[in-house]
Amino acid sequence: MHAPDDDPLLRQVLRGVNGPDERLNEVVSSLITHLHAFVAEVRPTEREWLTGLGFLAETGQRWCGPHRDEFILLSDMLGLTTAVDDVNHSGPGTMTPSSVQGPFHSPAPPRELGDWISHGPERERGTPVVVHGRVLDCDGAPVPGALVDVWQANDTGLYDSQDDTQDLGNLRALLTAGPDGGYWFRTVRPSSYPVPTDGTVGRLLKAIGRHPMRPAHVHVKVTSPGHRPLTTHVFLAGDPYLDSDAAFAVKPELICHPVRRDSADDRRRWEMDGPFEEIEFDLRMVPLGWTEER
Ligand code: BEZ
Ligand code: FE
Repeated sequence: MHAPDDDPLLRQVLRGVNGPDERLNEVVSSLITHLHAFVAEVRPTEREWLTGLGFLAETGQRWCGPHRDEFILLSDMLGLTTAVDDVNHSGPGTMTPSSVQGPFHSPAPPRELGDWISHGPERERGTPVVVHGRVLDCDGAPVPGALVDVWQANDTGLYDSQDDTQDLGNLRALLTAGPDGGYWFRTVRPSSYPVPTDGTVGRLLKAIGRHPMRPAHVHVKVTSPGHRPLTTHVFLAGDPYLDSDAAFAVKPELICHPVRRDSADDRRRWEMDGPFEEIEFDLRMVPLGWTEER
């Protein structure tokens, strides 16, 4: 690693980091050290340096505002958001892994267990799906009354806020888990979709030869008093983008296996009037105060 001992310039820059906030000093010193190591390794030309700074300036000036934050997208696309999520949400091996929230969360309408959450034209076109499971703690005990907030894109990969054919609140729900921690809802199969590519991040992805696609998923955020909030995704096995998610949010434990159902018993059990797919996904929360040594 590049060290101040070998580099008088770095030593001098670091000497100036002396504020009252120790943590800020640590963060800024480390950032400076890594940036100098980057320059020593890459030896950017002045033109490359200006291009990089211009990219950051355009990202902030043109593509960040009340309805768009290209810097968060940049962080997502570099795997930074997932790295930060991972260091902040470690826990027992039995918990459901956390994964990034993404930009499409908004307050969901409260709905009853079993409700359809699809009320747009996708309901006619899409593949009907029943999603069910239990909210448990990481020892397997039910978490009754947990709030389960779900949101997803439709069968063409669009969220309600991106699509005039959907009313706001479509494909979203705030559910309350039952006494056994059980939850369920009816919906349509989401589609994979591209992250926004019209800004600086899209240009970067293209330039480095990366596609912008995210594998199909349902977002879930679970809260319950006495437990750490859990924000995660449910991904669908078989999706072609599982191994190359543009946002690096896929973890093996988050991949479910939809099962096609068509028997009269299945239809009766899940109140469906035709063939459908069943997705079972338990959500395992970490009790507050959980520590490694327990
Ligand atoms: C999403 O899943 O909604 C998302 C996550 C990261 C970047 C863009 C979109
Ligand atoms: Fe999403």
